Amino acid sequence: EEAELSYSYIYAFLPSISPPTLPPPRSTCMRYSVVFAEYGITHQPTICGTLKGLLPDQLEALGCQIMLGNTYHLGTRPGPSLIMKAGGLHKFMNWNRALLTDSGGFQMVSLLKLAEITEEGVKFQSPYDGSEVMLTPERSIEIQNSIGADIIMQLDDVVKTTTVGPRVEEAMHRTTRWLDRCLKAHQNADTQNIFPIVQGGLNTALRTESAKQLIQREVSGFAIGGLSGGESKDDFWKMVHLTTDLLPEDKPRYLMGVGFATDLVVCCALGVDMFDCVFPTRTARFGCALVSGGQLNLKQKNYANDFEPIDKECECSTCKRYTRAYLHTVVTVETVACHLLTIHNIAYQLRLMQRIRDSIEQQCFPEFVSNFMRTTYPSKE
Ligand code: GUN
Ligand code: ZN
Repeated sequence: EEAELSYSYIYAFLPSISPPTLPPPRSTCMRYSVVFAEYGITHQPTICGTLKGLLPDQLEALGCQIMLGNTYHLGTRPGPSLIMKAGGLHKFMNWNRALLTDSGGFQMVSLLKLAEITEEGVKFQSPYDGSEVMLTPERSIEIQNSIGADIIMQLDDVVKTTTVGPRVEEAMHRTTRWLDRCLKAHQNADTQNIFPIVQGGLNTALRTESAKQLIQREVSGFAIGGLSGGESKDDFWKMVHLTTDLLPEDKPRYLMGVGFATDLVVCCALGVDMFDCVFPTRTARFGCALVSGGQLNLKQKNYANDFEPIDKECECSTCKRYTRAYLHTVVTVETVACHLLTIHNIAYQLRLMQRIRDSIEQQCFPEFVSNFMRTTYPSKE
């Protein structure tokens, strides 16, 4: 998907990111650590409280500062009362760094076809025992309060990106009403930061109105939702740009569900501070390693005799120790390959974000963007 993008296309569409006229980088970009973690994102009977394919120790060693969990999954297993008994999720999983929980509605709507949304909340059938469950804004916050993550998300009404018509407007207004119910239900305002989520589909007027409504509430950061679901890159960037222009400069902006390298670079230029995505860990499980310019599918035969590391410049434990030939050999037969590739892919994402932060700090972000584009899309020069 990413490879189809052209360098000139990106610059043509977003003249503001071309080096000479790049807007001054936002100071907020430096202040928030960014992480890509897939954490319990499955409704298969896995034990929650783990990141797929990595031990918490390894994640810590990679420099990961924050991990994302899902209210819906954690609320079902192990469940809020057990997490409360353990003294919160940080203690339960012995993770001393930051945690963020998503509110649950999005996972239900995207995972469960039978979810039904009303003004009261999201009604769905439990995949565990088939019983009917209603997730209301109040219930989502109650569960997130017992999980105790540092950042919690409002319950939002998410429609598929490509939806048009009155449903998009209804979902946008309902998201604001649900935010007010979440704020009222929130018990730990002094220790847990709640973020509203800007919705409004691909409609300029609706996105604008959503952002304008949400910034009137007293919160410590904002999320941009409802994107990265199959819309065109034009629409995607247009909506991100429009939204970041409306959000306050001094609070973090979190773009939900985004993780392709080009999108990270472009959206940082547009003023986004935080991202999350299953892509790096999921693609690792498919045998793919992230490298500058794209991915290596280590299942391919051409790696059988390739004695280079995945990436000579990568300092991760996988690249220091294993060749592509070794990874090719184990990738189809041993789950250890998934772990090794997951380490590399998380290291890759963290390093990309570190380079973005460094270049902003050193006031050479425009050069970074242009180098990145040239390396990623060499044929387009
Ligand atoms: N994850 C990716 N997109 C979204 C969204 O729009 N809302 C929520 N709650 N989570 C998301
Ligand atoms: Zn590596």
